[in-house]
Amino acid sequence: GNPGVLIHLNSGQFVAYDATCTHAGCQVDYDPASQHLVCPCHGAEFDPAQQGTVIHPPADTPLPALALHIDGATGAITLKQ
Ligand code: FES
Repeated sequence: GNPGVLIHLNSGQFVAYDATCTHAGCQVDYDPASQHLVCPCHGAEFDPAQQGTVIHPPADTPLPALALHIDGATGAITLKQ
């Protein structure tokens, strides 16, 4: 019930964010064209390659980053506890 989003950046790094928009709580989606996380409600955009920074209002707070654990043996990606 609390959505998150996992992104494989062009740099090869995996990052994850809380997918709840910091403006008014809609769920953001990854836009492959812009490579941003975009909110469908009021158009806020966040940059997953820059710690979830706001790059388009009305949101004024970055998306919270989620810490990941990548198992070197299996490649499994899980949330760090
Ligand atoms: Fe995301 Fe308003 S809820 S821009």
